[in-house]
Amino acid sequence: MSRLGIFVDRKTLSSAEQLHALIRCRDVAEEMGHSAEFLFPVDTRKIPAMDALFIRARTDPLNVTYVASRMAEADGIPVIDDPDSIRICSDKVNMYSRLMQHGVPIPRTLFISRHDLPLPRIREIFGEIGSPIILKEPSTSFSLRVEKVNNPGEFLQVARRFFRMSDWIVAQQFVESRYDWRVGVLDGELLYVCKYMIPDATFKIQDSVNGHVVYCAVESIPADQAPSRVILTGIQAARAIGSGLYGVDLKSDNGDCTVIEVNDNPSLEGGEDGCYPLVYQAIISHLLER
Ligand SMILES: Nc1ncnc2c1ncn2[C@@H]1O[C@H](COP(=O)(O)OP(=O)(O)O)[C@@H](O)[C@H]1O
Ligand SMILES: [Mg+2]
Repeated sequence: MSRLGIFVDRKTLSSAEQLHALIRCRDVAEEMGHSAEFLFPVDTRKIPAMDALFIRARTDPLNVTYVASRMAEADGIPVIDDPDSIRICSDKVNMYSRLMQHGVPIPRTLFISRHDLPLPRIREIFGEIGSPIILKEPSTSFSLRVEKVNNPGEFLQVARRFFRMSDWIVAQQFVESRYDWRVGVLDGELLYVCKYMIPDATFKIQDSVNGHVVYCAVESIPADQAPSRVILTGIQAARAIGSGLYGVDLKSDNGDCTVIEVNDNPSLEGGEDGCYPLVYQAIISHLLER
């Protein structure tokens, strides 16, 4: 019998869906003959006693999840997410650079510094990327600092705001679509596929509209009903980052397929695994039985 530590925090437990998913994860571990326990940030000293660690709190190199991940790695304990994946995925410049180096298709993308702010240069960027443009502050998550700009004036306004937080920002071609494909990948192999249906009021899978948060609807899709191009590109993107658990977001447009983002710590509580009852089993056996 092995011990699985499931690292959580108060935020992870704040919704009924999350709680339900975590309890399911624990139950599956126990059905597989292991023990599972929830570890909170105050419990990091217990990490060395675990046989594997599954982090289910928002990962960030600047928060305690990264400390937990590093502790596990230093003790030779298998961990999802591993520190490298957290570092790469938390910074979009780093992440897109990796994808480009590995030849993974992404929308037309430029990294912009303050030197790119004179208006003639911004017009040139519209010429290179097209219009509208998506601007992203590299440390964004939950769609928070991702904005669509339609002209150089809007570009300047949003870019100035993002430059208060980062020396570099991402300018990207806008790819129109009604949904993001989400391809879940574990250790370089397909784990699940689903669609994140974009709410009508926005272009992002999650947004604040008139002060109300709107979320995407999740539609789990059997693997044989998803385009193989989407699945293969998702796997290629995940392998470019590492061998852990990733949720790859893709847009597909007229047979073309581009990667929007690779998420470490992908959400599993939204029904992503509807057609894939063995997701937790696969993760636990990857962590504990390799
Ligand atoms: N290039 C793009 N074209 C169209 N929509 C995009 C583009 N980039 C991002 N989006 C939308 O915005 C959402 C958030 O962007 P993403 O890069 O995933 O940032 P975050 O890390 O904040 O989630 C995506 O899920 C997608 O729906
Ligand atoms: Mg995202």
